[in-house]
Amino acid sequence: MIFEDGIAWRDADYPPMSHPSADVAVNAAVAWAAGLAAPEPVAARILEIGCAEGHHILSLANRWPASKCVGLDVSAKAIQRARNRTERADLANVHFCEARLSEFVPDAPFDFIIAHGFFSWVPDEVKVGLMDFIGKNLTPHGTAVVSFNVAAGWKERMVVVEKARAIMAAGEVDAMEALAIFRAVAESERELFLIDDMLAKGAAVLAHDDFAPVMDAWSLGAFVKLAESHGLCWIGDSLTGEKGDDAADLVAGTTFRSELLCRVDAVNGEGKKPARGTALLRTIPDFPKLDAWRMLCAREALPLPDADLKPCMFTFPQLKVLIAMDGSHSVYDLARHAKEVAPELDFVPWLRHVAERGLLG
Ligand SMILES: C[S@@+](CC[C@H](N)C(=O)[O-])C[C@H]1O[C@@H](n2cnc3c(N)ncnc32)[C@H](O)[C@@H]1O
Repeated sequence: MIFEDGIAWRDADYPPMSHPSADVAVNAAVAWAAGLAAPEPVAARILEIGCAEGHHILSLANRWPASKCVGLDVSAKAIQRARNRTERADLANVHFCEARLSEFVPDAPFDFIIAHGFFSWVPDEVKVGLMDFIGKNLTPHGTAVVSFNVAAGWKERMVVVEKARAIMAAGEVDAMEALAIFRAVAESERELFLIDDMLAKGAAVLAHDDFAPVMDAWSLGAFVKLAESHGLCWIGDSLTGEKGDDAADLVAGTTFRSELLCRVDAVNGEGKKPARGTALLRTIPDFPKLDAWRMLCAREALPLPDADLKPCMFTFPQLKVLIAMDGSHSVYDLARHAKEVAPELDFVPWLRHVAERGLLG
């Protein structure tokens, strides 16, 4: 069967979702931690490719009224719903474009480009088109987050999908019914686990994920190679900055990745400090600060009491980062400092965790 660019999606009913791994605030902080000068999203130009009903890009537009957000999707139905919600939510800083990516000509480059749930679900020429588009339409210090399904973990899932498809064809039943039938005759605990996992996704997601007309799982290595051939540089995981590899994916059975990219010339340029401390991470203050008691605990390597007086223990490298939280350093400064004194630390999720435990004043 041939899947013409976007045709399979014209009447798609993809459920509205927002995605933490494509939170451009976190992505920007990850880029800063890697020494890049990513712009602040507060007043940035943000594009989501394959935005469906726009739930994610609408959430970003709502968070940053001074940003300029654009949602692009080939599905007329999805774009109509997105526009309707934009009007009802009275958001003036977002607009939606009904078009294929190959038809879309932006009037200016973007600071952030998001393609979540897109790469693995479009034909190869659109995957190439996506990388080409990103390479040509990012601002000099912009970043792009692209997610995809990973072959290492999908191989065994596809065996289950193929068996379920055979049941669908033989019994003229839909995917959910076929999985339920398959469940009754599953041959191993693992098969049972995978069937249950698919059933839990529900019909709408399954139709555009495991059972989608196009579902290509890729290796990280092949993904990075494609990005690099379009003038892009791979930063790492979009949430943690961690650089995974194919061998680790095979061992872990990784099924999904969300990776952060930037222009190759951004990596060679000197990172520039943003003009002010950042209010990027919802739970994290611009200038994180321990109160006097917790600062003393950090200095003396005592447990730090959290908001519920539960003791929090930290390693020595982590304590070095905590001690720098005297209110005079921005998140950006701290990310840099952490890279030096605690290179093993996944700074962004760690800082979020510290904030969520109520350790910051
Ligand atoms: C799996 S859905 C993901 C939706 C959303 N980004 C998410 O992750 O929740 C893929 C979306 O990409 C859109 N799409 C597929 N091919 C496209 C193309 N060539 N140009 C623009 N949009 C496309 C589909 O209409 C669909 O809404």
